[in-house]
Amino acid sequence: MIWQTITILVIAVWHCCSGCQFHPPGEYLRFVRVPENLKIGEEILRIQVFPRNRLFLQPIDKIEDVQYFTYKDINRTTISLRLARSLEDLVDSEHPRNVLKFKVSCDFNDAEDIITSSLSVTVYVEDVNDHAPVFVGTPYRVTVDELTPVGLTLFRNVRAIDRDKPNTPNSDIQYALVAGNQDGKFALDNSHQAYLILKKPLDFDAGDREYFLTVSASDRGVPQKHANATIRVLVIDNDDLSPKFTKGVYRTKIPEFYPILGRRIHKRIEFDPPIFAFDQDLAIDAPIRYDIIAGNERHLFSQDHVNGSIFLEREIDLDSERALPGNTFVLQIQASQVDNPLKFGVARVEIEIVDLNDNLPEFEVDFYNISIVENLPNGFSVLQITAVDQDQGDNAEFTYQLEDKSGAFTLDSRSGWLTVRDQAVLDRENDHLSS
Ligand SMILES: *[C@@H]1O[C@H](CO)[C@@H](O)[C@H](O)[C@H]1NC(C)=O
Ligand SMILES: *[C@@H]1O[C@H](CO)[C@@H](O)[C@H](O)[C@H]1NC(C)=O
Ligand SMILES: *[C@@H]1O[C@H](CO)[C@@H](O)[C@H](O)[C@H]1NC(C)=O
Ligand SMILES: *[C@@H]1O[C@H](CO)[C@@H](O)[C@H](O)[C@H]1NC(C)=O
Repeated sequence: MIWQTITILVIAVWHCCSGCQFHPPGEYLRFVRVPENLKIGEEILRIQVFPRNRLFLQPIDKIEDVQYFTYKDINRTTISLRLARSLEDLVDSEHPRNVLKFKVSCDFNDAEDIITSSLSVTVYVEDVNDHAPVFVGTPYRVTVDELTPVGLTLFRNVRAIDRDKPNTPNSDIQYALVAGNQDGKFALDNSHQAYLILKKPLDFDAGDREYFLTVSASDRGVPQKHANATIRVLVIDNDDLSPKFTKGVYRTKIPEFYPILGRRIHKRIEFDPPIFAFDQDLAIDAPIRYDIIAGNERHLFSQDHVNGSIFLEREIDLDSERALPGNTFVLQIQASQVDNPLKFGVARVEIEIVDLNDNLPEFEVDFYNISIVENLPNGFSVLQITAVDQDQGDNAEFTYQLEDKSGAFTLDSRSGWLTVRDQAVLDRENDHLSS
């Protein structure tokens, strides 16, 4: 008795709400497009379904598809299908899914059987350009030898990813150098591959030391999104340049020696500016060795190999250097790299020896013994005396002077010509002529 009552009650309940009809009748499939960034709770579709009994959402292929959706009754005839879970991770993934399928079903009860009636819904999720490219593996740093040949690829590690749907404009990245490349020394291999390539030669010693290149990664979505990254390029100096002297010619003057003692000396010769050579590869600054390579056959000079100082090794007497042009010793010096003697620079050194006035003029003969006739006219040239001075230049200059108390003669101080000055004094009869 109790069992029967329950059965009757259940039938009564089903009877009360039976019926399930989608409208328009005969349509079993609906298709809708939604953007991936649709908010939870927003409507994707309205469906007319009446009468309806025990409406529910059902999977078709994949159970999880249906979990993205829910529905809400609007009124007796209409329901609203709404989003229950975010769609964002569906398309923006490595294996994107953009089609979701499910069924809206309700039970139809015709007294004998319960028939479930359904409407299939296919939701196409459209990608939205909601991600900007992101560089990976930053910061980017490259060290480049200044002698790297043009055309070589310097760096292959610049890469950006875009989390929008793969193989769509929204995730298609194009690279460009947008700043820091004013000289056009660098370029990217192509816009889809950010391989950094050298386009023009680098010269560390001309100031190419460091570059900060801004590379941009842009997708092709609408609106376009982009990101920037910096590639720091550090140029390193290569040993491509030779040592160089600070001057082409170093000049100085030193006095000759007096008296000559014949000793060995070792006297530093001062130059202004001092003799100095440097490696033009400034960052390498290789050690330098100095040598005299010409002009020192008699070993009068020596040079400190380390600091370039030049020393005089022997006393110099100009009187024995008659053949020396301009009283100047000319040396060739060389500065070579200790680690690579093929890299060298040369300079000239001119050392002028200044004459000390160490010699007296000397007469050709000590004694001039001449006889003259007594009646020579005034102005008559009697004799030219000559003297020489072993000194040179100004120090070799001298003048003649006559000491003659009688006043009979005069002597030209320059030419050495002795001429008659006062004929009357020469009168033999007066006979007071003395030396
Ligand atoms: C139910 O709601 C829909 C949408 O708002 C409307 O078009 C329709 O007329 C409504 N039906 C009734 C019976 O109120
Ligand atoms: C990227 O760099 C370019 C050039 O310097 C600049 O115009 C742009 O605003 C930068 N973009 C970002 C996102 O910083
Ligand atoms: C160079 O070295 C030598 C000794 O090796 C020294 O006598 C000389 O003064 C040095 N020169 C300079 C400029 O320091
Ligand atoms: C000068 O010469 C004459 C004649 O040649 C000679 O007689 C005289 O002794 C000489 N005087 C001297 C000082 O040598």
